[in-house]
Amino acid sequence: MKIMSVKGFHDVLPDESARWQWIEQQAREVFARYAFAEVRIPIVERTELFSRSIGETTDIVEKEMYTFTDRDGSSLTLRPEGTASIVRAYVEHALNQREAVSKLFYFGPMFRRERPQKGRLRQFSQVGAEVIGRDDAATDAEVLLLLHDLLSRLQVSGAQIELNSLGCFACRPAYRAALLAYGEAHRQVLCENCSRRLERNPLRLLDCKDRACRESTADAPVMIDYLCTPCRAHFDTVCALLAREGVEPRLNRRMVRGLDYYCRTAFEVVAEGLGAQNAVGGGGRYDGLVKALGGPDAPGIGFALGVERLVLAVADHEAARPSLPEVFIAPMGSAAEAEAMHLAHRWRCDGMRVEMASGGKSLKSQMRLADKVGSPYVLILGEDELAAQVLTVRDMVAKRDFPRVVALSSSATALRQALVQLTSAAVEQHA
Ligand code: HAM
Repeated sequence: MKIMSVKGFHDVLPDESARWQWIEQQAREVFARYAFAEVRIPIVERTELFSRSIGETTDIVEKEMYTFTDRDGSSLTLRPEGTASIVRAYVEHALNQREAVSKLFYFGPMFRRERPQKGRLRQFSQVGAEVIGRDDAATDAEVLLLLHDLLSRLQVSGAQIELNSLGCFACRPAYRAALLAYGEAHRQVLCENCSRRLERNPLRLLDCKDRACRESTADAPVMIDYLCTPCRAHFDTVCALLAREGVEPRLNRRMVRGLDYYCRTAFEVVAEGLGAQNAVGGGGRYDGLVKALGGPDAPGIGFALGVERLVLAVADHEAARPSLPEVFIAPMGSAAEAEAMHLAHRWRCDGMRVEMASGGKSLKSQMRLADKVGSPYVLILGEDELAAQVLTVRDMVAKRDFPRVVALSSSATALRQALVQLTSAAVEQHA
């Protein structure tokens, strides 16, 4: 019996992996421009890291983590996100003593036991960035500009950054009390989940996915109306700095984010063509998190994009397709096959993308294969060619043969030049 993959855990097959690599490449390029350095964090962490940072009453910690007891009795969890691990690494390695500000990025798989559907998996990948050590509005604007540049570079269709402020320890309590009072007054129309969590985490009310619950709390108070003067000034400065660069996020007054560590600037990226799971990314400021995880009182801000959702939303860019072989060698007979293997190895060592057939296939079936793998040229090596130490070139695009034109001793560079010359001479002749 076949063994199938686990529900919500997907393979990325070759026709898709090129797009993944391209996304990663573009992200690396943008991160380098903004002076971010890569951190590779482990997949498994102590469970406490996530319950203390993401929050005990969040969906992630309450019901979505893959947690298990290790043989020594300790509770471990497959990371559901990257921020907590980055902060753990920052504290563990005292990065604050090495640099005034840490600008870090990461790629990798995350695990959440959600109900799988299009764009929602149990193992998914994120590309994320975090800045730890600065609390000024300019840092928020810089992170949002980086995000904006990356989305433009990837040509994410219909990408829109939504922005909100979640206040701070000074102004959030009054807002929380107002929201709690509102929730209590509306308890009979709340869904079971919101009603249950109301006292422990009233902010979840605004995040509820239940349509009836959402509609009946449409006039609930929102944080942005309760900001203290410093939070308001911070938010206005972020918006002004972005506007100067021509970036105008849309205000989303109900956005609270699904993780509890945020304060002040919070944002999400929505895109077209993703169905119900239209958030390609999210992030925000988390000024108390480093301290809460045992580190110095260092502020932080960052974001993460979901790679599977990006793959669905990015334009079909040519560079995001698998790279095709430059030539396909079609040998006829066992002596030619041995020679073809030698040629392919030599040219591959020279940096050329070479494919070849083996196993004594007919020329016709080798041609079909070359066509299938998308090689623009086939180099035919039959008995005559082998005796004369040359190759016949078939131009697969123009459907033309050039008998015995390339010497077997050609270097990869000479071969490339010869192919270009043949094609252009044929085009000129045709004209
Ligand atoms: P998040 O909003 O939970 O934030 O996740 C960020 C992105 O990961 C989502 O917008 C989505 O694209 C992707 N994602 C999340 N869950 C799934 C899933 N089950 N299947 C597919 N994709 C998914 C965070 O994780 C924060 N750590 C972001 C952050 C960084 N905040 C500050 N720094």
